[in-house]
Amino acid sequence: MKEQKLKELLEKMTLSEKIAQMVQIQGRLLNAGSEEAVTGPLGELNIDPAMLDNIGSVLNAEGAENLKRLQSEYAKRSAHGIPLLFMLDIINGYKTIFPIPLAQGCSWSPELLSAAAGAAAREAASSGLHVNFSPMVDVVRDARWGRVMETAGGEDPFLGELYAEAVVRGYQRGLSDTEGAMAACVKHFAGYGAAEAGREYNTVDITERRLRNEYLPPYKAAVDAGCEMVMTAFNIVDGIPMSANTHLMRDVLRGEWGFDGVVVSDYAAVRELIPHGAAENDADAAKKALLAGVDIDMGTNIYANNLESLVLGGEVPESLIDEAVLRILHLKNKLGLFESPFRGASEEQELKLHRCVEHLSLARETAARSCVLLKNDAGVLPLKPGTKIALIGPYANSELLCGMWSHVLGAPQGTVTLERGLLERLPDESLSSAPGCDILEECEQVPSAFQYKYPAPLSKPEEQWQKALDTAKQADVVVLALGEHCMQTGEGASRTDPRLPQKQRKLAREIAALGKKTVVVVFCGRPLDLSELSAEVDSLLIAWFPGTEGGHAVADILLGERSPVGRLNMSFPRAAGQCPVYYNHYSTGRPRQEKNRFTTGYSDCENEPLYPFGFGLSYTNFKYGGLILDKNVLTPNSTITLRVVVENVGERPGEETVQLYIRDICGSVVRPVKELRAFERVELQAGEKKVISFSITEQMLKFWTADMVFCAEPGRFEAMAGPNSENLLIEAFEYREE
Ligand code: GLC
Repeated sequence: MKEQKLKELLEKMTLSEKIAQMVQIQGRLLNAGSEEAVTGPLGELNIDPAMLDNIGSVLNAEGAENLKRLQSEYAKRSAHGIPLLFMLDIINGYKTIFPIPLAQGCSWSPELLSAAAGAAAREAASSGLHVNFSPMVDVVRDARWGRVMETAGGEDPFLGELYAEAVVRGYQRGLSDTEGAMAACVKHFAGYGAAEAGREYNTVDITERRLRNEYLPPYKAAVDAGCEMVMTAFNIVDGIPMSANTHLMRDVLRGEWGFDGVVVSDYAAVRELIPHGAAENDADAAKKALLAGVDIDMGTNIYANNLESLVLGGEVPESLIDEAVLRILHLKNKLGLFESPFRGASEEQELKLHRCVEHLSLARETAARSCVLLKNDAGVLPLKPGTKIALIGPYANSELLCGMWSHVLGAPQGTVTLERGLLERLPDESLSSAPGCDILEECEQVPSAFQYKYPAPLSKPEEQWQKALDTAKQADVVVLALGEHCMQTGEGASRTDPRLPQKQRKLAREIAALGKKTVVVVFCGRPLDLSELSAEVDSLLIAWFPGTEGGHAVADILLGERSPVGRLNMSFPRAAGQCPVYYNHYSTGRPRQEKNRFTTGYSDCENEPLYPFGFGLSYTNFKYGGLILDKNVLTPNSTITLRVVVENVGERPGEETVQLYIRDICGSVVRPVKELRAFERVELQAGEKKVISFSITEQMLKFWTADMVFCAEPGRFEAMAGPNSENLLIEAFEYREE
């Protein structure tokens, strides 16, 4: 439809019909029967049926047949036949489940994340979905927070920018002219990952400068990539809840960044202005959210039941309603919904695309590249042919490999367990398996989310325990498959003690005491405190929640079919007490000196994490040398070329991720001790060496200064190159303005 036609449509709409476009409810309430309309959740929602007949969007409904029916029935009731938008959280795949985003981010491969996003969009679009509440790009530095699992950039804004752009591009490729794409909704604007103490929905209180330097870049990268929607976060920033934060939404998001898409609140975040203490009542909440720039009120009746009287009472201008509604209509038009309200919804396409061979193969590749090998003493991995293997632990044959969000609409189908992945490749007599214990004790279960129901506990637990020990005794190598439960991660799952469940830690101790070569595969959604475990075993592989093809991917690595290439995007703490722990920290006035108590640190723990940002092993070894800069003075229009020699000094080919960090020694505000600014993945045969080059530019030095200007400041810098954020070769250079 032409833009002018949209304006004409808007002029035909009544105020109430316009407001209805700004309301979003659960899809299941759309065609609720009369009893639900009166007594159940719809009754509680208390929205006028006439308004319901014209609402603009729903969430959490899916399926081609279902959404075509909903759209058809809705069209008969709505005043102007404006199609509904269907939105859903597709965090790591729709029916083919990919590794959780935190895992995918360890691939250091934006193109892989873009491909995975494209596959998810094609599958979801075939089921009639239009908007994906993804990517979540919050920078996260506290492993106690359950939602670290949802972000690919981890603790680093630079990685976060690269992934935000790649994933938006993957979802929205050809949005206007292909039915296999989806509109992306970047979230949660802004700073949700900085919740104090890692406690869910807790206070965020950071300066605007720190927000701009360390938390906003990934959101901006998503907007610059053309992301169609932005979701406001639950938290406050500088004392103002994001859904009422006029400065960040109208001055920064729309003013500075030029975002002209739709802003949707997070679930009930408009109503939550009241318990935040930022709004007196529903009407006040509606007014503040509208003035700040929230276009769609997700999940409540605050807009539905208050905006009309606010306009008629002269408290808010109708022009703000018109702007919001025009943005919503514009998005529906961009998706082609006026001409084809069913868009890509097709049962035939669902059968063809859902868990198709191409997507499963991509999921296997992504899962393999997401795994991170943290320890491999004596080269126990890869497992040698002919080895008798005991696969022990609650994740030995568990299908719970897809992460919390994949359960939004029911358990994923067809997940490949680790046992199946190994059995498909090993002769039967070489693999024996026993769970040993449950993932969680009943007392450890967290309130389940959505439709998830915890499986029944193992019967005869003592016998199972003993069987596991006996099975291990018969083997050459024990592979322990352990992990936190997927419902211990994601939203509403902050933990004060981010370790493996107690029973599993006990099982690991007793297995390790047998004296066998022991490999541990950890399935998790956050950097766990693995201090105790890592000291007891020979090899440690982080598989995260690897998705539908997890069992195949982990088996590929354990058996040497593929080498591990993952590098950490988030530091692993030595203890919860270290959190938040991250590589790009400030120096402080008393940098750590061993044996000097009056320097920054703890009396009972090192400052450094157990495993640092950027760290990961492969099945070979790499040596770095010959770091050189072609000049030592950088000016605005020049570049410095940094060269470093990387050599494969092992017996197997391998892929290395060479990382470039920059340090600004002294600035008008203090600067992090280092910041990732570039990286390059390189394949090296055994014995091969390559010169890797990076261009250092003024752009890499820019930050928000004491005067709140985004620029580079003259002075001394260090360029660092190496395999991770701790093991680096360093060369100094200077930046001069001329
Ligand atoms: C949730 C989450 C948000 C999600 C939304 C819709 O509370 O915070 O990430 O997209 O509600 O499910």
